[in-house]
Amino acid sequence: MSYSLMIHGGAGALEDLKYEASEAAFRQSIIAILEQGRERLERGDSALDVVEYCASLLEDDRLYNAGCGSVLNAEGKVEMDAALMDGRNLQAGAVACLRNIKNPISLARRVLAHGEHVLLMGDGALEFAKFCQIETYPDDYFITEARIKQLAEAQVAGRMTLDHERIKPSQKLGTIGAVARDIHCNLAAATSTGGLVNKRWGRVGDTPIVGAGVFADNETCAVSATGYGEQFLRTVLSKTISDFVQFRGMDAAAATQAGIDYLVAKVNGEGGVIAIDHTGRCAAAQSTSGLIRGWIELGGEAHCKLG
Ligand code: GLY
Repeated sequence: MSYSLMIHGGAGALEDLKYEASEAAFRQSIIAILEQGRERLERGDSALDVVEYCASLLEDDRLYNAGCGSVLNAEGKVEMDAALMDGRNLQAGAVACLRNIKNPISLARRVLAHGEHVLLMGDGALEFAKFCQIETYPDDYFITEARIKQLAEAQVAGRMTLDHERIKPSQKLGTIGAVARDIHCNLAAATSTGGLVNKRWGRVGDTPIVGAGVFADNETCAVSATGYGEQFLRTVLSKTISDFVQFRGMDAAAATQAGIDYLVAKVNGEGGVIAIDHTGRCAAAQSTSGLIRGWIELGGEAHCKLG
């Protein structure tokens, strides 16, 4: 049995990468993370372990809007959302409005493992982290000069923006994600983000909401989304894509494209999705000009695409 792995580092207009390094840096990062995920899948690790692992590597890379690279809210603070889902049994774990935790996706995994609840937020999530003996990191681990400048520009422009968004006139959107199918044909999905630049404190996007920013079901597919969270929430986009596989018999390519068509038709949505279906096929679709992603399909070569 072969494995598949797909990761993303946000959608948007990548022509003007003013807050990040070059395209080469993204390519290098994406391929390195895919190869580290491959090692784990080849040795038989579960899809759930591998999506948590790959998402945590993306959270630890300041290129992306998640973990230490998170954007700032309107108060100049970092509030992160993350979730993951196991396609074997639809178990899920999520955290929202989380501060000072290096890897939100790993706390989400602890929520899943604990089993009592699906989503913990704010102080309650921090209390749970303490219970799990997960250490907190100081604010200055997360807050960088580049993010302070990005927030100031968004505030001057008087708007909320996505991470990779140019204030004027176009976009590059934040969020990271991973989807995998392991050698036992199990699916899992993970998504993590710092959310929108200049967002209101307490705002929660699609990322930690099962069915909106993340979904996995062994019978259909595993999906991770990136884009304006409100639009993905209103269209329940990740579950909609799973439904396209389940009820219309689509594969990953057809279902992701149908999902983005629906997002645009219904709410003029901006963003992208990645998915692996139950046969191990990888696909992505987006309504933006770019989507940073990489994939290994059925044990093949690692690929990276930004456009
Ligand atoms: N899709 C990430 C967010 O809107 O928070």
